[in-house]
Amino acid sequence: MNIEITPEELTQVLQNKSNALILDIRAKENYMNGHISGAANAVCHSMQQKQVIMSKIPPNMKVILIDGDGTEAKQNATMMARFGFDAHYLKDGIKSWEGELVKSTQDTTISGDTLWESIKQNSDVFLLDVREPQEFAEFKIPGAVNIPLSQLFMPSSQTQLPKDKKIVTICSHGNRSMVATFALAQNGLESTSLVGGMSLWNQVLGATVLKENDTTIIQVEKIGKGCLSHIIGSNGEAVVIDPTYPTKRYIEFAQKEGLKITKVIDTHQHADHVSAAKDLAQMAGAKLYLSKLEEYRIESEKIEDGNTIQFGTKQLRVIHTPGHTPGGMSFILDDKYVFSGDILFVEGIGRPDLRDQAEEFAAKLYDTLHNKILKFGDDAKIFPTHHGEGVSPTKGGIFYTTVQNAKKLPLLDLGQAEFVSKVVSITTPRPMNYSMIIKINKGVIPIAPEQIPDLEMGPNRCSIRM
Ligand SMILES: [Fe+2]
Repeated sequence: MNIEITPEELTQVLQNKSNALILDIRAKENYMNGHISGAANAVCHSMQQKQVIMSKIPPNMKVILIDGDGTEAKQNATMMARFGFDAHYLKDGIKSWEGELVKSTQDTTISGDTLWESIKQNSDVFLLDVREPQEFAEFKIPGAVNIPLSQLFMPSSQTQLPKDKKIVTICSHGNRSMVATFALAQNGLESTSLVGGMSLWNQVLGATVLKENDTTIIQVEKIGKGCLSHIIGSNGEAVVIDPTYPTKRYIEFAQKEGLKITKVIDTHQHADHVSAAKDLAQMAGAKLYLSKLEEYRIESEKIEDGNTIQFGTKQLRVIHTPGHTPGGMSFILDDKYVFSGDILFVEGIGRPDLRDQAEEFAAKLYDTLHNKILKFGDDAKIFPTHHGEGVSPTKGGIFYTTVQNAKKLPLLDLGQAEFVSKVVSITTPRPMNYSMIIKINKGVIPIAPEQIPDLEMGPNRCSIRM
């Protein structure tokens, strides 16, 4: 079978608007500098990725590969033909093409960090999630529109796409979203694929700084999951509470404010994300503190109720706040700032059921909330370790609540018995992989950093509200 096509034949295909995918397999930079109009950039970094990409292309579609001189495209087209594709390649590659070449107006791929910057600046991005509706319903970037990849190859599905916005295609790992750019290019729409998909989106960290008098608090948000952690600075020194991966970002955020991380603490044993406390302490050369009342097999300084942790000219007071976990600790700064882990959120309270003794934990949670947290002054700011989906920051991009606002939560208006029965009756799905994550955070099983994104995929589910 002849799989070679000439520039004249390719011109015919383009003029007839045949149902063909034209894939330019050269390096991204070469493609962006000049490609045949209607061609999409397809760069696979491994055989495995090639196979995944091929499995997502509709098998009845004509595929034409273009490279620099025809060599690699011929090999790939031959392989695809063997897999049953109607695959072809442009003879002698792009150098045989005498027609017009177009430059890209945007990058063909986008990293999670860059996408987050664009979303923050309200730039005109259109988030096109091409996963299946079930995956989309489970976990998505707010504002994204869902058109599954299989539908995207039907031209009618593309009529709802804007022509004046930058389209970012999104999937779970960045393969389907790449194939989506092929489907859009066929209709003359340029788009950019989110590298690593939702799995790496989940690892994007953003920092917002709150400065009040001599206190610097950097709230670090794991954007995709809504996990919050805090870097508290005083006199050039910083304590980090509840860090998540990627660890090195904390050192960068602290440095930007002229702070050196000397201490790292977890409020409790997390179930929804892998704690980066041990690794961050190691990387920063800082001291690690963990609760004496949680089960850890990690070497650290153990803390309990009544301890203090010094940094700069300040100190954090430790109070035992059980209810979400048995040994959860909260950290108090100047009696005005309370870092309470998963006890109290902007929108609700911590869930007591992740350790399978919901009733007992709910009673402790009641006591912690009413007799410890709500006993601070009305203006005290409570910084949680998460925020739920759709919850907006309280002020200046920072998520916190105050004692005054927390007292208005309906769940905190109930007496103890009513509270326990109500809280136990609310069933929310558990965080994905939570029992595995608990074991990792205990130090019972090891994990390689590259396994973390997939393990943590999915929303945080640490709070309950009503
Ligand atoms: Fe938690």
